[in-house]
Amino acid sequence: MDASSMPAPCGPDTFTNRTVIVSGGTGKLGRVICRALAEGGANVVVNDINAEATANLVEELVSDGRSAYGITLSAVNGSEIISQTVSKFGRVDAVVNPILGAIPWKHFENLTDDDFRASFEANVLAPISIAKAAWPHFKAQNYGRIVNFTSDGMLGFPTASTYTFSKGALFGVNKTLAMEGAPFNIKVNCVSPIAYAPTMERHIQRFSEDVQELFKTRYKPEGNVPMILALASEGCKISGEVFNTSGWAVGKSVWGVLEGDNQMRTVEECLLKMDQVTTKNTKEVYEPGSMVDFTEFQSNWILGKDSKSKS
Ligand SMILES: NC(=O)c1ccc[n+]([C@@H]2O[C@H](COP(=O)([O-])OP(=O)(O)OC[C@H]3O[C@@H](n4cnc5c(N)ncnc54)[C@H](O)[C@@H]3O)[C@@H](O)[C@H]2O)c1
Repeated sequence: MDASSMPAPCGPDTFTNRTVIVSGGTGKLGRVICRALAEGGANVVVNDINAEATANLVEELVSDGRSAYGITLSAVNGSEIISQTVSKFGRVDAVVNPILGAIPWKHFENLTDDDFRASFEANVLAPISIAKAAWPHFKAQNYGRIVNFTSDGMLGFPTASTYTFSKGALFGVNKTLAMEGAPFNIKVNCVSPIAYAPTMERHIQRFSEDVQELFKTRYKPEGNVPMILALASEGCKISGEVFNTSGWAVGKSVWGVLEGDNQMRTVEECLLKMDQVTTKNTKEVYEPGSMVDFTEFQSNWILGKDSKSKS
């Protein structure tokens, strides 16, 4: 499947009168997201630490007759980015954050505290900073969309601790902001995309040949764009979900809980029953929608009640 033969991800008016900030806007995914939003009628704010790439992308979009503005700042400067955006376009409607801090590629014991700080700053504090600064605007207008970027790397990826730890943190960011945003029509979701680049060549060697081919031919940056734009659009009615996107396919990532054993009173019993507790068997995985849901589930099965019933 060739990206150039695919239909445009949205109509030319889907984002008319909407201002969307794309932080990490000049990266592999950021670039195609900025272009698609601009072609969908949005005022696009390209935010990135790469000054030259930001200026070039903005010039490219503006010379194509699109509405774009560049802000070269780390996205941890959320207040300044929102303030410049509102001065330029009068409002902010959505923030999309395909940010990626540099990955040191070292084993855990060789990483420094500064390696972790840098990664958490780019991958977690930056999207939080932008969301926090945008929040009062979203509340005042009873409208806002946030799309953060996690990674299947959070499922475990040796030598990528700084990346996987920080990407895992976004799972919690997503759930809590979705709940706090619910009364104000602020929808917060996360994507876990795949966009092939030659730098992944070594990483994909572990897969079968047909999967390697899939990476190279179908896992284009563009193959994630329709869902990302859907989540950033007015039409988006869901919140707090994590979607895995790749090659124009979309799935949902879940965090689930299983009933265990409610009589584990000694270390010996715990050790003996560990396999039983961790084996899925025929038990149904329950996906709590919130901390309250989880606590009800846990309490109900300990009490011997139907764990899916509300107490
Ligand atoms: N490419 C993939 O296959 C893949 C897989 C899983 C997850 N993701 C996620 O998707 C997102 C985009 O990935 P990508 O491949 O386009 O990455 P990329 O490295 O091509 O782009 C990331 C961009 O973020 C910018 N950036 C870094 N720190 C910043 C900061 N503090 N403030 C503003 N901008 C900053 C960089 O300059 C760069 O332009 C990332 O969050 C990544 O974790 C990508």
